[in-house]
Amino acid sequence: MKLWVLTIILFGIALGDLSDADKKRFDCHPEKDASQQNCEARGCVWSELQSSDSFLPWCIQKADKIGYKVTAQNGNNYTLMKNDGPKSPWDTDIQQIQMVVKSIGKVLNVKIGKDGRYDPPVDLPKIAVDSTDSLTLQVNDKSDPFSFVVQRQSNGRRLFDTSIGGLIFTDRFIQIATYLPSKFMYGWGENIHKQINHDFTRYLRWGMLARDEPPDSGSLDTKNLYGVQPFYMVLEPEGNAHGVLILNSNAQDVTTLPAPGLIYRTIGGNLDMYFFPGPTPEDVITQYYNFIGKPFLPPYWALGYQLCRYGYKSLAEAESVIQTMRNAGIPLDVAVFDIDYMMRYKDFTIGSGWENLPAYVNQLHDWGMRVILIWDPAIQVDYDTFQRGISSGARFIEWEKSSQVQNALNDLYPLTKGKLTMLGVVWPDRHVAFPDFLDTSGQTAKWWSAEFQQFYQQVRFDGSWIDMNEPSVFGTNEQDPCVIVFFGYYHNSDHPNAPPLFCPTSGDDSYWENAPYLTQAVYQYDGSALYTKTLCMLARTANRTQPFYNTKNLYGWSEAKATKAALQGATKQRGAVITRSTFPSIGKYAGHWLGDNTARWEDLQTSVIGAQEFNMFGIPYVGSDVCGFIGATTEELCLRWQQMGSFHSFFRNHNDNGSPAQQPTVWPTVAAATKKANLFRYRHLPYLYSLHFAASLRGSPVIRPVFFSFPNDELTPTLSYQFMWGPAVLVAPVVTQGSTSVSVYLPGGIWYSIFDYLEYQSVAPGKNDYPAPTTSNIPTFIRGGYIVPRQNPNVTTVDSRKNPFGLLVALDGTHTANGEMFWDDGITIADDITTLDYHRFQFKFFDAPTSGSLTIERTNKANNVPLPTLDEIIVCGYSNTPDLTAFTINGKQVNVNMQTSSYSPFTQILTIKTNNLIDLTTAETILVKWNAKAPTNNHENHVRYRFNDLI
Ligand SMILES: *[C@@H]1O[C@H](CO)[C@@H](O)[C@H](O)[C@H]1NC(C)=O
Ligand SMILES: *[C@@H]1O[C@H](CO)[C@@H](O)[C@H](O)[C@H]1NC(C)=O
Ligand SMILES: *[C@@H]1O[C@H](CO)[C@@H](O)[C@H](O)[C@H]1NC(C)=O
Repeated sequence: MKLWVLTIILFGIALGDLSDADKKRFDCHPEKDASQQNCEARGCVWSELQSSDSFLPWCIQKADKIGYKVTAQNGNNYTLMKNDGPKSPWDTDIQQIQMVVKSIGKVLNVKIGKDGRYDPPVDLPKIAVDSTDSLTLQVNDKSDPFSFVVQRQSNGRRLFDTSIGGLIFTDRFIQIATYLPSKFMYGWGENIHKQINHDFTRYLRWGMLARDEPPDSGSLDTKNLYGVQPFYMVLEPEGNAHGVLILNSNAQDVTTLPAPGLIYRTIGGNLDMYFFPGPTPEDVITQYYNFIGKPFLPPYWALGYQLCRYGYKSLAEAESVIQTMRNAGIPLDVAVFDIDYMMRYKDFTIGSGWENLPAYVNQLHDWGMRVILIWDPAIQVDYDTFQRGISSGARFIEWEKSSQVQNALNDLYPLTKGKLTMLGVVWPDRHVAFPDFLDTSGQTAKWWSAEFQQFYQQVRFDGSWIDMNEPSVFGTNEQDPCVIVFFGYYHNSDHPNAPPLFCPTSGDDSYWENAPYLTQAVYQYDGSALYTKTLCMLARTANRTQPFYNTKNLYGWSEAKATKAALQGATKQRGAVITRSTFPSIGKYAGHWLGDNTARWEDLQTSVIGAQEFNMFGIPYVGSDVCGFIGATTEELCLRWQQMGSFHSFFRNHNDNGSPAQQPTVWPTVAAATKKANLFRYRHLPYLYSLHFAASLRGSPVIRPVFFSFPNDELTPTLSYQFMWGPAVLVAPVVTQGSTSVSVYLPGGIWYSIFDYLEYQSVAPGKNDYPAPTTSNIPTFIRGGYIVPRQNPNVTTVDSRKNPFGLLVALDGTHTANGEMFWDDGITIADDITTLDYHRFQFKFFDAPTSGSLTIERTNKANNVPLPTLDEIIVCGYSNTPDLTAFTINGKQVNVNMQTSSYSPFTQILTIKTNNLIDLTTAETILVKWNAKAPTNNHENHVRYRFNDLI
C-alpha cells in the first residue's frame, strides 16, 4: 500500500489545485486553435483554469449529461436511446443503438453498436481460459444517462465504470469513458512510452492509426506509430490485474484522465469490448493470448543474431561485413537484406550489383546461416508481377468510382488505363498499386503465394520482412512533397519524382477524408489528414466491400497473414515473418520490430519498454533496431544496445541508408562485448525457445515486466528498464551513457547472479548497485526455485544445437527448483503446435540433507528429433555437502568426472560436469541422485574447492 501513498504525494504537487471535476474533463477541442468562440459553437463549455498541467483542456464537454437511456431489455440485449442531454460535438447522434453482453468463458464481452456497422474480420479463436476469479456486470438502467460497471467478483473492485459519463455514438465519432481502479495502467499502442506505466499526473491523448512514422523517444511524444493495439492492463490496488481489448479497426485515440480514468474515441465501427479477469498479470496475458490467438512459434534459427543495413552499395559490401563477423567468431545466424537487393525497389526482383545473391544465399546456408529478405506491399504497375496479379484475378485497392480516378496517372500504364486502380508512390520509380489482402475471394493471397514460389526458385530465402505496410504512400495530397519520412523520396537523385496521389478534400467524395473528428493521430501533426502518408479513406478494400477508412489498420494484419502462408508455401518450412504494422492477433502470423528508431540513449530505453508492451499485445517475437537505425550511433551506445538486445527475441542490428557502419566489428570493444553477450544468449537459447514454445502452446508471455512476477511488491509497478525473461531470469540492462554500474531492484526472495560478477552466487534482494563495466555482460539474475535449460554455444544455432545440454538450477528456500524444456527440430511448420513432433521435459531438483536429486520426466516424446546428452548441472544455493562418488542414474552407479566437477560450501555452487553424463533418450523418467551430508558450518577456507579436494 505504501506505493499508493507515495504516488498521491507526488501527484499533489502537480495537480493539487484540481477539483475532482477538473480531473475528468472531456476535451471538446483537441485541434490546436481552441477558443471560447469555437468551443461554444460546438455546444461545449469554455472553462479556463490555470494549472501546472499544460495539457488540461479548457474547452470541455458536458459529459455527465451526455449519453443514452435504456428503453428496453431482452435478456442481455439492451436497447439504448439517445437521451435529452447535449448532442455530440461531432457528427449526428445515432438515436438507437444496442448493448449486448456475453460471457465467453470468464471473458466478459460488452458490445455497444448497431447491426451492419463494421467489425474487423480478424478470426479470433476466442479460446476460454479459466480464471480463479470472475467479472460481473451491473447495468444502471434506471439512470439517465445509463451507465454500467464491470466488477471483480472476489472483492467487488470496480474495474470499468462508465458513470463518469460521455457515451456518444455517431456514424463517424464514438466515445466511451470510464473511471479506472488505479493509476497503474499498461499498454495501448503503438506509441512511445517513456515509462512502462501510463502517466496520470496530467492529461494525455494517444493516437492510434497505422502510420509510417518513426518513433521519437527524445521527449514526451504521443504520436501514433505503425500499428494499432487497443489493449490495456490495469494493476489494481490489491495486486490483481485485469485486461481490456476494444476490437475496433478505425482511427482512434485514448485520453488518460487524472481522475484516474480514460476516454476512448474511435471514428467508426462498434465498441466491442472484452474484459479479461486475470487475476494475476500473467493470467490476463494468457487469457488474452488464447482469446486472440496464440503467437506463431519462431523457427529456432530466428532466435539467432541478425545483421542488416539499409544502404549496402552491392552484395559484395554485405559479404565483406558478414565475413568480418565470421572472422571475429561472433555468433550470427541471419543475414537480412533491405530494399537494396531489389531491381529499382520492385518486389520479386534482384538488382544490379546483387546478381550473386542466389549463390551467396546458398553459401550462407552451407555455413548454417539463414536469410531474411524485405518485401513492400506496393507493386509497381508496369511489370510482370503486377501483370500476373491482374490476370490471375488478384484484387488491388481501388477508387470508389471512375469519376474519382486520377486519369493522368492511370493512363500512363496499359494495365491501369481505364481501371479503378488507386495509384500511389512508394520506393519504385513508377506508380504502384496496393494488393487488397482483405479480398475474401482468396485470389489476392493466391497470387502473392505464387509470386513467392516463383521467386524462391531464384533465391532460397528463409524469412520475410514486410515493411511499409501501414500502408505507407509518399506525398499523398502534397503539392510539393519535399521531404518524406527521413530518407527523402522527392527531390532525391535516386528517385524520379512521380506525381503523388490526390484524395478529394471537398464535396460528397470527401465524406470519409473529412470525418468531423480526426483523432489525435491527425491533431498531433501540423497540416495532417487521415490520408497523410497513405491511401485515400474512400478507397475500396476487402473486395470493394469496405472503405479504406474502416480497414486501414488491418492492412499489415492482412498482409502478414497472406505472407506467412506464402512464405511457408514457398519454403515448406516454418520461417519467420517480421512486420512493421500490427493489429491484435497478428502475432499468429508475424513478429514485429519497433520501427525506425534513432541512435540515441532514449531510444534504447524506450525499446526496453516496447518489447515488454508487445509481449502484452500477443507479439512476443519482438525487438528493436539494435544500435539505432537513424543517425550515427556511438561505440558506447552500440555496445550497450547489443548487450540489451541480446535478451530480445528478435535481435537485429540494423542501420539507415547513409549512416556510418555499425556492425559490431567496427569497434573492437563492441565486437568483444557482442561476442560475449551473444555467447550468453546462445547458451540460453534452449530456455528462450522453450519460453516461445510455451507462448505458442499455452499462451504465456516471453518477456515480462517485473511486476508480472511480483504484483504485490510496491516497487515493481513502475520498474520500466528491468524486465523478466520468462519467470526465471531478470535482466537489468545499462541504458544510460557513461554508466559502469546499474542500480537493480530484486524483489523479495532468493536470487543468484548469472553474469560476470559473483557468478552463480546468491545476491541480496532489494535495491543494490551491480558493476557493469563494458567488458562485463549486463547484470542478469536467476530467481530461486527455477531451472533453466542451456546448451554450449557455437557461432550458429545449427551448430549450437548439436552441443550437450546443461541445466542451471537455482534453489529456493525450500531447497527445490523446477523447470521445463521444449525441443523439436526447430524448422517444421507448426501451425497446430500440438501436432508438432516435440519433446517436453520437466525438471525437478531437490537438495535434501542426505541426498541430492534431479528428476527428469519426459512428458511429451518426439519420434524423430535427436537429443544431445545432458552433460552439466550447475546448482546455485546448494547447501548440503554432496558425495558424488555415490552418483546414480535410475539406480545405476555412474562415474562423475571429478576434475570438472566441484562444490564449495562457501559459494554454495555445485557443478557436476561429465561428458555424456545423461542420455535423455533412455527412459521417460530419469532419476539422478547422489549422497550428501548436512554442512558442518565450518567454512574456514574461503576458497573454492575442487570437488576432488573436498572428499
Ligand atoms: C438485439 O436487439 C436488437 C433489437 O431488437 C436486434 O436488432 C439485434 O439483432 C439484437 N442483437 C443480438 C445480438 O441479439
Ligand atoms: C469480389 O468482387 C467481384 C467483383 O465486384 C465479385 O464478382 C465477386 O463475387 C466478389 N467476391 C467475393 C468473394 O466477395
Ligand atoms: C562449432 O561448430 C563447428 C562446426 O560444426 C565445430 O567444428 C566446432 O567444434 C564447434 N565448436 C564448439 C565450441 O561447439
